Amino acid sequence: MTKPKHHIFVCASFRMNGTPQGVCAKGGSGQLLQYLQEELNERGMADVAVSSTSCLRVCDRGPALIVYPENWWFGHIDGEQAIDAVIDSIESGTPSAQHSIT
Ligand code: FES
Repeated sequence: MTKPKHHIFVCASFRMNGTPQGVCAKGGSGQLLQYLQEELNERGMADVAVSSTSCLRVCDRGPALIVYPENWWFGHIDGEQAIDAVIDSIESGTPSAQHSIT
């Protein structure tokens, strides 16, 4: 196994306590996972891993995801254009200002 160069963690709204259907899941983060993986494959970005994760505690900006090791936090990832902006960020090395959580 080769360690990924980048790792995208997509909030799936899991919570230790309480409802698992939080803001990000209701906002379609689960459905965007497939597009995210397909787009990475299409761009030949095999060194980028994708995982779903629990609530990132930025629910008011969901759907949310984070990119490591850059420690970039992105919010309002609510469609394919937003996913494209995240992937563009990784390719260019500059985080999308439109979706960055600062
Ligand atoms: S449910 Fe996604 S950040 Fe809280």
